[in-house]
Amino acid sequence: MSDLLETVAGLVAPGTGILAADESVATMSRRLVRAGVDATPANRRDYRALLLTTPGLGQWISGIIFCDETLGQSLVDGTPFPFAARERGIQPGIKVDTGVSPLPFTDGVTVTEGLDGLRDRLERFRAQGATFAKWRAVFNARVCATAGGRSAKDSGRRGIRANAHGLARYAALCQEAGLVPVVEPEVVMDGDHHISVCERATANVLAQVFAELDLMGVDARAIVLKPNMVVPGTQSEAPVLAAEVARRTLKTLRAHVPPAVPAIAFLSGGQRNDQACANLRAINELAAEEAAPWRLTFSFGRALVDDALATWRGDPDATAAAQAALAANCARAAAAHRYTPEPSPAVRP
Ligand code: G3H
Repeated sequence: MSDLLETVAGLVAPGTGILAADESVATMSRRLVRAGVDATPANRRDYRALLLTTPGLGQWISGIIFCDETLGQSLVDGTPFPFAARERGIQPGIKVDTGVSPLPFTDGVTVTEGLDGLRDRLERFRAQGATFAKWRAVFNARVCATAGGRSAKDSGRRGIRANAHGLARYAALCQEAGLVPVVEPEVVMDGDHHISVCERATANVLAQVFAELDLMGVDARAIVLKPNMVVPGTQSEAPVLAAEVARRTLKTLRAHVPPAVPAIAFLSGGQRNDQACANLRAINELAAEEAAPWRLTFSFGRALVDDALATWRGDPDATAAAQAALAANCARAAAAHRYTPEPSPAVRP
């Protein structure tokens, strides 16, 4: 357990967050093609290498999440990605879920897969140098906001139960294997729903996730929770201030996340960098006023990397400009979360 606590302490070091560069081969390929780059293993490697070798990245980034393909690749000088990350003071992590499939007898609800053979895969990932892992479960806001009570059998309830169970089994296997699990239940922003719908859905999801984590024997001190912020749907027309995002997000977290959890690293979920950072800043300011028990940081993907990819577009001459775009986004996110709870999460009993 002490190794896990040490890993967590490194991942939640003040002024740093986690860079999610773990798009699956299919998703990364789509994004490269959209940017005018051929979707080859070499181009996926070059893009991830551009991100990782950004000068000074370790000032703002404590951990970087790779997908299986990248974890096994090397920089052009032959240094394997996990070693290259460590050389920069960044812990290498690995996304271990294998994506979603439809959950039977529901109205379009999915369940995240990847438990089959996971124990063996975790052993391999650890041998390759990973110190932490990630598993993402996705939830529709409207479906989960109206999920019934414990005995209800609606689609939302089924999806929440199945995905929370998967997250907890994954987290337990990670801790058994000596890897810190990043537990990512994401209520997605798609839709025109009001922020209150996201709030109810997030509450329903987190309540079940922590019940399952507890049931499976997961030590809350050795996880990082990676939730969505409580925000309105992307097609919602009701504008929302960062202060409201902060109020609803912290209220929901306080109701459902045990104080023993050391850190909450928010995903960006499709928010632009400026929006995600403004919300993160407001959440941290309110957390300081309320003396919230967790460090509240970021584990952004798109909000950090989108500008870099749009700048690079596969052009080697644009590498420095793309890295500068990534550095600026990381610096902004790092500056948005200065709140440190007392006592320090690393020493909390
Ligand atoms: O699985 C999603 C990533 O871990 C976070 O990505 O910040 O673009 O939502 P995002």
